[in-house]
Amino acid sequence: MSSYPKIFVTRRIPEEGMRLLRTSCTVEVHESDRPITRRELLAGVDGQEGILAMLTDTVDAEVMEAAGKGLRVISNYAVGFNNIDLAEATKRGILVTNTPGVLTETTADLAWAGMFAAARRIVEGDRLVRTTGRVEWGPMVLLGHEITGATLGVVGMGRIGRAMARRAHGFAMSLLYNSRSPLPAGEEGELHLTFRSLPDLLREADFVSLHVPLTQGTRHLIGEKELRSMKHDAVLINTARGEVVDEKVLVRALTEGWIAASALDVYEREPEVEPALLQLSNVVLLPHIGSASRSTRAKMAEMAASNLVEALHRGTVPHPVNPEVLR
Ligand code: DGY
Repeated sequence: MSSYPKIFVTRRIPEEGMRLLRTSCTVEVHESDRPITRRELLAGVDGQEGILAMLTDTVDAEVMEAAGKGLRVISNYAVGFNNIDLAEATKRGILVTNTPGVLTETTADLAWAGMFAAARRIVEGDRLVRTTGRVEWGPMVLLGHEITGATLGVVGMGRIGRAMARRAHGFAMSLLYNSRSPLPAGEEGELHLTFRSLPDLLREADFVSLHVPLTQGTRHLIGEKELRSMKHDAVLINTARGEVVDEKVLVRALTEGWIAASALDVYEREPEVEPALLQLSNVVLLPHIGSASRSTRAKMAEMAASNLVEALHRGTVPHPVNPEVLR
C-alpha cells in the first residue's frame, strides 16, 4: 500500500500532467470523454487529499464535505476559479490553486480570431461557400467591419487584457481600456493605452473585448444599458466568462441591431447555449476553446499537476489563489 497522498482527477488531462501526478501521488482519474456528473464527483472525492478539478466542476461545500477532513488542496485546471467556493475552501483551510500565465497568449489569440471572424464574417462566408458550392464575387457580398485603424476597447487589464492590447499595435488601432484601477502611466504609455470609464469606453469603441474575471461585481457587467450605449456597428467579443454578459439581452441587441455582431467563446449557462443565439448569423459561437492549443493545454496540465504535488508534499505552491491558508 503506497503512502503517497491520494488525489482525484475529475477528467483526464494531457499526459505531461498525468505523468507528474503518478510519480508522487496515488491517482484516481474519472476516465471518460464527458464531464463528470455531480454524483460521480461526490463519490470520487471521498477520502482524497487533493482534487484536480476542471472549470466545469462545481466544487462547493458539499463536495468538500464529501471529500472529508483530509482534503488539503484543490488544483483547478484553469486560470478562472469561479467554479470553486473559495470562501468555503479558505474557511476549511483548503488551498486552492490555478494556472495563470501559461494560457495568456493563446486566449488573446482566440479573442482576436473571434474578433476577425465576427468583423469579416468568416463563418458566414464559409457557410455560404459550402451551401451553394459556388463563389460569386459581388460588390455587396458579405460586407464586414474594418479592423485596421479602428478603436479597440479592452475591459479588464490583467495578463490577457494586456496581451489583447499588444496585438492591436500591428493593426494601427486606437486603444481604450477600463479596469478596476488605471495602470501606472509608464505602462499605459508603453502599451499606447488610454483609460476610460466603462460607459465612455462602450460609447467610443468599435470593438469591445472582455477580459475580466467572473465575480459578484462583474456578473452582467454588460447588460441592456451597456449594450444600448454601444455603437450600432460595434462588435462585442467575450472570451472571459459567459455570466459577464446578460445573454438574453445580447440576443435582443444582435437581433434589433443595437450592435452589429459578437463573438462568444463562453456562455452564461454552459454547457447550455441560449437557443436564440443559434438562430443568429451575426454571432460567432465558439465552444470555450480559449486555451485550447496542444502546447498550452500541456503547460496547464503540468502547472495544475505541479501545484497539487508541491502543495501536498511541501506545503507551498507557486500559484495559490488563497495563500492565507498557508500562513
Ligand atoms: C480558464 O483557464 O479559465 C479558461 O477559461 C480555460 O480555457
